[in-house]
Amino acid sequence: MTEGFRRHTTDELVAGRPDAAAREASRLPVIVVLDDVRSAYNVGLMFRLCDCVNVQALWLTGITAYPGVSEHATNRIAKTGVGGSIDVLSWRHLEDPVPEVRRLREEGWTVAVLEQGDGTTPWREVDYGERTVLVFGHERRGVRPELLELADVFVELPVRGITNSLNVATCASAVLYEILGRRLSR
Ligand SMILES: C[S@@+](CC[C@H](N)C(=O)[O-])C[C@H]1O[C@@H](n2cnc3c(N)ncnc32)[C@H](O)[C@@H]1O
Repeated sequence: MTEGFRRHTTDELVAGRPDAAAREASRLPVIVVLDDVRSAYNVGLMFRLCDCVNVQALWLTGITAYPGVSEHATNRIAKTGVGGSIDVLSWRHLEDPVPEVRRLREEGWTVAVLEQGDGTTPWREVDYGERTVLVFGHERRGVRPELLELADVFVELPVRGITNSLNVATCASAVLYEILGRRLSR
């Protein structure tokens, strides 16, 4: 059943890219914190995702690789962060994210920490507030304790297979599209 469907070509998709003013107008009031993430490939995936949903900023904190930190990491980030996202997305590197996340919380941002455990809320039932800091953690250790202390809410996605957890960018995709979907249906 392809009646009424026509796939857009890559040229059409490229031609439909929003300019800087349009991107500014549709910005999602979300800051994504990627803390102590080991894989530079995951960082690239997050650049691509964060640009696609048009978040306010991506913060790469602790040991998380960032563009320019080394040739090796920069190449890996560029490999998965395709499409120019690395050039246009607002990002910063912070050794210690705690003071800045605390500051945002004091300014009224909702700090939503993605973790698996007791006392979490399913991702579709969370009140993300008007402005949201989304925090993701290390591939094994998870989010550092000092950031857990700053959480307004712990957000969890159900895992129904034999794999313990989602890849961090896959997890971020589900949450960011949930937030974007709510905005679009307002
Ligand atoms: C690979 S997971 C951490 C794995 C886990 N700590 C373990 O020991 O297997 C890395 C990060 O992705 C996010 N994450 C992955 N799956 C998630 C899920 N199902 N619910 C909430 N967050 C998840 C969290 O932010 C987590 O800190």
